[in-house]
Amino acid sequence: MKKISFTLNGEHRHVYVAPSDMLLEVLRYKMGVKSPKCGCDTGDCGACTVILDGRAVRSCLIFAIEVDGQEVLTLEGISQDGLTPLQKVLVERNAFQCGYCAPGMILSATGLISEIPHPSEHEIKEAIAGNLCRCTGYQPVIDAIKEVTKKH
Ligand code: FES
Ligand code: FES
Repeated sequence: MKKISFTLNGEHRHVYVAPSDMLLEVLRYKMGVKSPKCGCDTGDCGACTVILDGRAVRSCLIFAIEVDGQEVLTLEGISQDGLTPLQKVLVERNAFQCGYCAPGMILSATGLISEIPHPSEHEIKEAIAGNLCRCTGYQPVIDAIKEVTKKH
């Protein structure tokens, strides 16, 4: 086991990990962070998405040991001061049903908005293309992202 240290949702944390531990399992089972979900464990569904040093990544594909010294943000971190404007609009539009995909979808969108404050529809679709939803479809999510990023 190796001790790694990183910033998790604004707090400096450390944890002991095996070289084969993936970030997703460490977050969920060693650090009690439950918003990243396991949908496939193969990088295909996006349910495990977190933001690593400003970029949306799939935590089931990242070795925990790789995040030593980096900054990880999960849904818990972006909601610390209440719902974000994007989350509020998603709720207003009933954009999710079961919600399993929601944390990953929201983090992919959050990563997009921090990189491109006013994305085109094409850029929005690209950003969430790796986040699978089997309930509501994608249009309410796309519309919500458009609403919060439109130029006034
Ligand atoms: S659990 Fe990571 S992409 Fe599906
Ligand atoms: S709301 Fe159920 S998978 Fe997206």
